[in-house]
Amino acid sequence: MHAVGIVAAAGSGLRLGADLPKALVPLAGRPLVAWAVDTLRAGGAAEVVVAVPPERRTEFAAALPGVRLVDGGATRTASVRAALAAVTGPGCPPVDAVLVHDAARPLTPPDVVARVLRALAAGARAVVPVLPVVDTTVVVDGQGIVTDAVPRATLRRVQTPQGFDRRTLEDAYDALPDGVELTDDAAVVRAAGVPVQTVKGDERAAKITVAHDLALAELQAVRA
Ligand code: CTP
Ligand code: MG
Repeated sequence: MHAVGIVAAAGSGLRLGADLPKALVPLAGRPLVAWAVDTLRAGGAAEVVVAVPPERRTEFAAALPGVRLVDGGATRTASVRAALAAVTGPGCPPVDAVLVHDAARPLTPPDVVARVLRALAAGARAVVPVLPVVDTTVVVDGQGIVTDAVPRATLRRVQTPQGFDRRTLEDAYDALPDGVELTDDAAVVRAAGVPVQTVKGDERAAKITVAHDLALAELQAVRA
């Protein structure tokens, strides 16, 4: 199966609050985005394209020598849409599967990528890595008073890389009206009525959102 990887790296990282775009922030001396590209390649992506903030192209090119970059958009949905057009458009080599990964998940083990690819090879059209919810999960009202508890047995936390049959993902993005923003690509295909299969995720694929997440990742990266 010919799989291409897309890394969404065009965000600014407001919640992390670094003085660099989040994807360029170093983890054990290497930018987050470089870790994410390596994971996709090690897990089986034949090529990788990275959506970057257009005004920071030069720095991303220096951080990712030889990697194809495309201009991302103002939202994650727009960034993935742009990268998808670049890897599957007219004149592009034939691609069976697309893996979409967050630059913000640098320590994702290649095994997760491999599990996603295996599920695609077995016939799934859309695949996401997931983990169970371990904390008690509740609903609160406007005053912060707990109004309900959510049974967590059927809840899952969704990670990346998410894998798709190429046509399925292209058709779903084509069907998504401009301006509709969803937080991940599985939501885009689900909006098109496509069933999304789950495989086992990994705690190490955690997303770096705030400074504490980066501090934790530094400890893990040193041990790895
Ligand atoms: N992303 C993107 N294009 C955007 C916004 C986000 O490619 N316009 C990417 C980010 O670079 C990140 C992934 O989507 O790898 C997940 O987004 P998130 O963790 O929210 O990153 P940021 O949007 O950069 O962070 P924040 O929301 O704190 O500003
Ligand atoms: Mg964001």
